Amino acid sequence: MDCDGAYRMSTATARAYPNIALVKYWGKRDETLMLPAAGSLSLTLDAFATTTRVELTDTPEYEFSLNGVAQSGDSLSRVSRFLELVRGIAGSSQHARVTSSNEAPTGAGLASSASGFAALAVAAAAAYGLHLDRAALSRLARRGSGSAARSLIDGVSVWHAGDGDETSFAEPVVAPEMSMIIVTVDARQKAISSRTAMRRTALTSPFYPAWAETTEQSLAAMLEACRDQDFSRIGRITETHALRMHALIQSADPPIRYLSPTSIAIFDAVVALRDAGVEAYATADAGPNVAIISRPEDAPAVAEAMQQYGSVRIVGAGAGATLIDDPSLEATA
Ligand code: PMV
Repeated sequence: MDCDGAYRMSTATARAYPNIALVKYWGKRDETLMLPAAGSLSLTLDAFATTTRVELTDTPEYEFSLNGVAQSGDSLSRVSRFLELVRGIAGSSQHARVTSSNEAPTGAGLASSASGFAALAVAAAAAYGLHLDRAALSRLARRGSGSAARSLIDGVSVWHAGDGDETSFAEPVVAPEMSMIIVTVDARQKAISSRTAMRRTALTSPFYPAWAETTEQSLAAMLEACRDQDFSRIGRITETHALRMHALIQSADPPIRYLSPTSIAIFDAVVALRDAGVEAYATADAGPNVAIISRPEDAPAVAEAMQQYGSVRIVGAGAGATLIDDPSLEATA
C-alpha cells in the first residue's frame, strides 16, 4: 500500500531490531530534543525483533499494548508523548492504537527501547501520512529513545552528536563482518532506567566531563578502525569503552551498578579466550547481559565457552527498521 497524495495510510506495521553500541551513548546535552553528549556507533542485530502496528483512531486517548498486555503509567505516557510529536508534525487530530510485540525481554539491557521506538517511528510516520527519508526517521526515532536513532540503519551505524536536531541522526558505516554472541544472564527488567541513570551520572559523577570528551575520541578511533577493516582494533575500543561506561555509571551518587558478578565473570572469560587465541571482545549495556563480538568463524567457539553463564545466542548484522506487510490486516480487510 502506498501513502501518496491526499490518501492517508491510517494503519501501518513496522519491524525493527535492537542495536548494541560498540561506542556507547551515555548522557544527553538536551533532554527535550534528546541530543546526546557525544556520538556513538553500534551494530543493528538480526534477532530480537520488535513488531509494531499503529492504527489511527477516533478515540480521545492513545492506547498501547505490549506483548498482549494493555499498558498504563510511564510506559503508556512515553509512547503517548512520542505520538503527540508525530501527530503535531502531521497536523492530525486523530489519536492512535499501538500494538507491539518484542521477541527480546523488555528492559533487560537488550535494547528493546531502541527496536521499540525505531519500529514505532516508522509505523507512526506512515500511519500519519508523513513522507520521511531515513535520516528524518532516525531523528524522529531519537526523540523516543536516543539509541533508537541507530536502529533505523542496517548493520553498523554512527549516530552523530550533531549541532542540533537537524544534524543528530544515524547513518551507515562500512565495517568488517562481525558476529555477536549475546549472553543473557538475567532477563528481568532493570531496576533503574537508562534515562534516570544517565541524568544521575551527568549530575553527580566527577568523571562525566572526561567521559563526554573522550567518547568523541573513541568514536573517531572506531571510525578509523572500521574504515581500515581492523577487527582487533574495533574489539579493543569496544571493550575499553564499555568498561569505561560502567565505571562512569558506578561513580554516580548514589552509585548505580548494572553489571552482576556473572557479567564480570564473562568479561574475564573473554580475556581468557583471547589468551587462548580466540579473538573476542565484550560489551554490556544498561543491564547485566553481555554481548561479545568476534569474527564470524570464531563465533561457535565463543558461544561454546559462554554456555555456562546463561542462555547464548549468536547473531549478526540485521536490517534497519522498515514497514512490513501485516497478514493480520489482510485477513481483516
Ligand atoms: O536510548 P536509551 O535510553 O535506551 O540508552 C541506551 C544506553 C546504552 O544502551 C547503555 C548505550 C547505547 O549506546 O546504546
